[in-house]
Amino acid sequence: MEIIIQETKEAAADVAARIIAGLLRKKPDAVLGLATGSTPLPLYKRLIGMDLDWSGVTTFNLDEYIGLPREHPQSYHSFMWENLFHHINIRPENIHIPDGNAEDIPGFCGEYEKRIHNSGGIDLQVLGIGTDGHIGFNEPTSSLASRTRIKTLTQQTIADNARFFGSEEDVPRHVITMGIGTIMEARQNLLLAFGENKAQAFAEAVEGPITSVNPASILQMHPVAKVCLDEGAASRLQRADYYRWVYDNKPVWQTF
Ligand code: PGA
Repeated sequence: MEIIIQETKEAAADVAARIIAGLLRKKPDAVLGLATGSTPLPLYKRLIGMDLDWSGVTTFNLDEYIGLPREHPQSYHSFMWENLFHHINIRPENIHIPDGNAEDIPGFCGEYEKRIHNSGGIDLQVLGIGTDGHIGFNEPTSSLASRTRIKTLTQQTIADNARFFGSEEDVPRHVITMGIGTIMEARQNLLLAFGENKAQAFAEAVEGPITSVNPASILQMHPVAKVCLDEGAASRLQRADYYRWVYDNKPVWQTF
């Protein structure tokens, strides 16, 4: 795993944006996996400010709440349009977000997997990490081989996300999420983590054992996993000095 520690989340998001910009310039028809929540906001803001052509890009979002109308301000459809898609020249037909109102949820999930496959597979997947170590909404003890499916949120995630809804009662209990097996098939994973409240889950993911109890720990098995984090999220790492040393001594030809 390549661990890139920056002083602030804005600086870390800037590194992540340059990694994505580099990919889109090299491969204008890239397939991106996208994430929601507060973590990717500075990344999307930075990407919007860059002169990038999104007309050939295809996107697949990680997850969506079940039962929230698409137009609900907290649906991930609304989130993506407000914070990224309205501001770039992406083609609406190239955007894929799980349908939390599908009548046949397992059928929809199978179809979503097929669409990812038929697009040629995800070139780069953006990820956040939950305070419980989840990636997407793959909560602790999710199968490390799981595919897109329904999940029940943990009480911790419901409490964490209540800030967006006003109260815990209003947070949906169920979601559709890409599986851990799905995420692991992306050719590159780019995880962002900001703030001290992520430090414990992140340290366990990177320096602890690979375990479904911390789903993000599976990224230790991914051949191209990069992490951009701020000092807060890095504050519990045992080997932070080594990660800084590696980044500072990166050969020029390796940078993006
Ligand atoms: P957050 O959520 O970005 O809102 O902290 C991250 C996640 O749950 O993956």
